[in-house]
Amino acid sequence: MTDRARTFYLTTPIYYVNDRPHLGHAYTTILADTMARYRRLAGDDVWFLTGTDEHGDKIAQAAANAGITPQQLADRNSAAFRDAWRQLGIEYSDYIRTTEARHTTVVQAILQKLWDAGEIYLGKYGGHYCFGCERFYTEKEIVDGKCPDHQTPLTWIEEENYFFKMSKYQAWLIETVERQPDLIRPERYRNEILGFLREPLQDLSISRPKSRLTWGIPLPFDDTYVTYVWFDALINYVSALGGPGAPRFERYWPHAQHVIAKDIVKPHAIYWPCMLKAAGIDLYRHLNVHGYWTLGGRKISKSVGNLVEALALKDKYGNDAFRYFVLREMVFGLDAAFSEDALVSRLNADLANDLGNLVARATTLIVNLGEGKVPTPDPRAEYPFGTVPSLRPDFERAVVEVEGAMAEFAFQRALATIWEFVGAVNRFVDTTQPWLIAKQIEPDGRPRLSTVLYALAEALRLLGIVLEPFVPEAAAKIRATLSQTGPPRLADAVWGRLTPGTAVAKLTGLFPRVEDRTPRVAAATRAAVARVPIDDFSKVDLRVAEVLTAEPVPKSKKLLKLTVSLGSEQRTLVAGIAEHYAPADLVGKKVVVVANLEPAQLMGIESNGMVLAGSTEGKLAVLTLDRDLPPGTKIT
Ligand code: MSP
Repeated sequence: MTDRARTFYLTTPIYYVNDRPHLGHAYTTILADTMARYRRLAGDDVWFLTGTDEHGDKIAQAAANAGITPQQLADRNSAAFRDAWRQLGIEYSDYIRTTEARHTTVVQAILQKLWDAGEIYLGKYGGHYCFGCERFYTEKEIVDGKCPDHQTPLTWIEEENYFFKMSKYQAWLIETVERQPDLIRPERYRNEILGFLREPLQDLSISRPKSRLTWGIPLPFDDTYVTYVWFDALINYVSALGGPGAPRFERYWPHAQHVIAKDIVKPHAIYWPCMLKAAGIDLYRHLNVHGYWTLGGRKISKSVGNLVEALALKDKYGNDAFRYFVLREMVFGLDAAFSEDALVSRLNADLANDLGNLVARATTLIVNLGEGKVPTPDPRAEYPFGTVPSLRPDFERAVVEVEGAMAEFAFQRALATIWEFVGAVNRFVDTTQPWLIAKQIEPDGRPRLSTVLYALAEALRLLGIVLEPFVPEAAAKIRATLSQTGPPRLADAVWGRLTPGTAVAKLTGLFPRVEDRTPRVAAATRAAVARVPIDDFSKVDLRVAEVLTAEPVPKSKKLLKLTVSLGSEQRTLVAGIAEHYAPADLVGKKVVVVANLEPAQLMGIESNGMVLAGSTEGKLAVLTLDRDLPPGTKIT
């Protein structure tokens, strides 16, 4: 919780209007919405921007294919994105379209400023051009002398274009990225960019001749050219605030945080900082980069034809279940495999079972045993004076940990923490057994019962607050059932604020179970033991791995899902060790993994490697190191 209000400016990428919204776009937007809601809950001053990227080759081409004008295509698909966000309950503050006058004005002003300052020059550029794609291909991208997309021969084109002197900012950029370790996060993307910056940076071609492309913003100093789409698109983050000098810009820009996926790290981590520097605008605060949702091992996108309709899933399972699943399933920064089975498992286990049942149980107990009102607790009934355990420390820990996780964009960890609290409250009901206390005739029964029921009501009230950013509809129902009116505030998430006498209603079926769909479980096979030549053994790539996260696999007694670091990369593994290790015991441990195993699907999760462990007579031990070695070290 924060004492002072902070300011937050959060952006999503602006999406291309040649595509319709799919799960990939929905994920980024839901994530940003969750962060914006969380910051608002904390009382911060939040501005949340999303929008559409409407210029350039791709859009002109898609419009031509559809037999409509680029503007018509942009209008239609921009509206489709807006409508999708409305249906998904996204509460953005502003929606920018790059065809709006407020955007083109700022783009042209910045271009003019850079031109006047000598940051842009006219140069000659020669390259292999694909007319199908309307873009140049580099030598590296060309496959057998042909366009990798169209498999058609490329044409060598030499033309004059305007260039932005990006190369002169290389040293400054390296220094900036090195000085601010969390500028680009998670660290793997920062390392990727620092690696890229070891090679000399080229100047950036920022124009296209109008003779080839008219669908763009004309250069203010030469109207026979339009701006290159990235130069146009990135400026949306600034133009939407009115540009330098505008009150909204001055208020929010110093707190800018971008959210993107790893596909567009380079423009955001290289072009954009150099553009800002040249234009005399401060750098953003953080670039938050997430991984891809994959389906059948490939990135979900329109072009690979494996589009997952986010809205169809939302209609089928409900908005909250969809939000919860994507936020809980993906470790920020890493890829995650999408599967409907995994979504259903999470829905049944975490939402229907853990949370839904708790709410139903607790409200039913309060209505039946407490006459529908929050009773007055008796401090003497509570531990250490009495026998009723206190949930307060569990809750307080959760609030602190959620804040820490959210500060790092670790949505998955924030939810795992809240669910630990849900687990603690469920165990509290099991151990205190209020229905038995109610039956007792002993004289101290009433204060104990009141204390237990108060704690349950208070736990639900607090859940109704902290769950708001993640599952807003369910959180609102929980608050309503406890007569909590008015907007939720994190400042009220303080144990003991619930007023005795508050009316409580039963709330059942918060998350109805979805009938079981049997998940596919890959059969675990073990090789027979036989002598092997050393060459065969060396085919097995054994590595030191550090466990970063560990969590139970829903509906499985044996499996734990682990994220491990192999130094240069992170992996998700599924290990059959849940009966022997608590997740918390593994986090931070260095273990040994087989790093080159073929991926296997276990309970809908793709496992990329195997943790080495030995077992005998029901005992199991995971291999660890008796001296420290860095993650990724090869074991021979
Ligand atoms: N128009 C540019 C962005 C300009 S920002 C100044 C663009 N648009 S896009 O429509 O292709 O959107 C890319 C973004 O969509 C990704 O960075 C990510 O936020 C989201 N995703 C699209 N597919 C995705 C996945 N399969 N997985 C995760 N996110 C994905 O690039």
